[in-house]
Amino acid sequence: MSGKKLSFTVLTAIAAASLLLARPQQKPAVPPDPSYREDAEWNRRRPGLDTDVSLYINHWRNAAPREGHGGLVESDLLTPGDPFHPAKKGAVLRFLKTYARAVLGPGAGTRAYKDAREQVFFYVMAGRGSIAALGRTAEIEEGTAVFVPARVAYRLANPGDRPLEILLAAEEAPADFVPQTDISIGRYRDSLPILGAHWAHIARPFAYDREPKFAHPMGFVVVSMDEFDIAQPHTHPAAAEEIWLQVKGHSLLFFGNALLEQEPGEAFLVPPNNKTPHSSIRPDGEPPLWLFFGCRQGG
Ligand SMILES: [Fe+2]
Repeated sequence: MSGKKLSFTVLTAIAAASLLLARPQQKPAVPPDPSYREDAEWNRRRPGLDTDVSLYINHWRNAAPREGHGGLVESDLLTPGDPFHPAKKGAVLRFLKTYARAVLGPGAGTRAYKDAREQVFFYVMAGRGSIAALGRTAEIEEGTAVFVPARVAYRLANPGDRPLEILLAAEEAPADFVPQTDISIGRYRDSLPILGAHWAHIARPFAYDREPKFAHPMGFVVVSMDEFDIAQPHTHPAAAEEIWLQVKGHSLLFFGNALLEQEPGEAFLVPPNNKTPHSSIRPDGEPPLWLFFGCRQGG
């Protein structure tokens, strides 16, 4: 440990001890929820007080499909709302404005589409097709990510005989944001895996031809896990927006004080209240594949 780090650690410990000594040691009026320590004030489930994790997980098939982005059939997974007090299932987004499954049928193509402020991330979950923008056309297939900046017109095409199935996420750039001038294309199979984050995650970043310039501090990676492995249960602070979409396989999800099963087409956002842990568990069966989204705004 360097001297600088040591000094910082010592100062942090002193500051934390001072705070503890200064604070009256009172029993809280409302027990914290949920609780994980054996000697905690409260260790029972408290419906109505515990975070209702069912509001933070949703499947695209629960949404009515609509047309968007020049002719895609889109079904929302998560929608803008309040992640601290969701008014309805899936209404939890703050930094993304769209998180939806989008489909382009066999032989179909979209009309040219662009937006002055919207920046779009596509991840191809199944099928093959192409995207045309700025006079060039790129092939896309399962595992391809595409980032389209604000102000760039694009068209998607599916000349094949199977549906082109995409995850579509979008952010709204501030009025003074200067976007990149070309699209980015990346494939996770072109990157080396990063092992061991949160014990078990096998992460594959996208190897882009040019790094996407998101307006917010955000990014996407693909994650898998070995059979019979478990990720470290952990919580997230208010600054975080984190989403896990199950693309392939099934997994178990320890979420708050519930155990759920996550199936393909289902996504959850981690409640940013620092008291709702999440941990994915892989049983046997088909290897799981998640599309991970993370954003840390100001902290
Ligand atoms: Fe997390």
